[in-house]
Amino acid sequence: MAQDQSLEPAETRTVFDAAARAAEADLPSGDEKTALVRTMFDTIAPRYDLVNRLMTFGLDVGWRKQSARALGLPAGSSVLDLACGTGDFLKILGRTGLRPFGMDLSWGMLAANRTGAPLAQADAAALPVATGAVDGITCGYALRNFTELVPVFEEFSRVIRPGGRLCILEVAEPEHGLLRIGDRIWFRRVVPLIGGILSDGAAYRYLPRSTAYLPPTDELRSMLNHAGFSSVNRRALSGGLSQLLTATRRGQP
Ligand SMILES: C[S@@+](CC[C@H](N)C(=O)[O-])C[C@H]1O[C@@H](n2cnc3c(N)ncnc32)[C@H](O)[C@@H]1O
Repeated sequence: MAQDQSLEPAETRTVFDAAARAAEADLPSGDEKTALVRTMFDTIAPRYDLVNRLMTFGLDVGWRKQSARALGLPAGSSVLDLACGTGDFLKILGRTGLRPFGMDLSWGMLAANRTGAPLAQADAAALPVATGAVDGITCGYALRNFTELVPVFEEFSRVIRPGGRLCILEVAEPEHGLLRIGDRIWFRRVVPLIGGILSDGAAYRYLPRSTAYLPPTDELRSMLNHAGFSSVNRRALSGGLSQLLTATRRGQP
């Protein structure tokens, strides 16, 4: 069941220390993280879709559909699916009448992308897209993989036209006890085993740990506000297994 939680314009916190958060969780930061993420996704790309479906019991398909609807853009709108990976979001966006194109850091993920949508290799922090050129951006399960969030959010803000929409889908921790315990056991114990059998064990041990990179909601909200977005909204999906952040690019359309 989805819950709505309106987010107020932000305020206080202006220092977002990704390196400190990484060090605390004994995870890589800076260039070391970028290299690790790129190599890891190149490695797991061939079996990425299969492991993803098993890992979420197929719930991720519904979450992406909800995200595409939450964009609220009319048919024909141009949408950049950033960190598009193998293209799950691109397929859904295309079916809803939008004009999607994808970008990703990993050649391996792009090579496994068979959607037919236009694709380019790019780093989210330096997009080869003109200022104000797109009506919207979607970004699925990639926030924790970015090396720094502030430059990425600034790029989102630069390339989306005023009045355009941003939709970020990301993992979350359920708030309620039993679901939270089950989620932890599943992602920290079972998923690494499944990933090890079908794909790459090290990658599927790293991915659950990488949630430590995610800032808390109020910090994400503040970062998006600082980058130029208003109406930032967070919705918990399926009891908080995933979260959907939506926002509107400030300025006159
Ligand atoms: C967990 S996958 C998600 C893929 C897809 N969005 C989905 O929902 O299935 C994360 C993706 O982020 C990409 N990525 C990581 N860092 C990136 C960066 N700096 N710029 C662009 N893409 C990046 C990875 O290559 C990978 O394809």
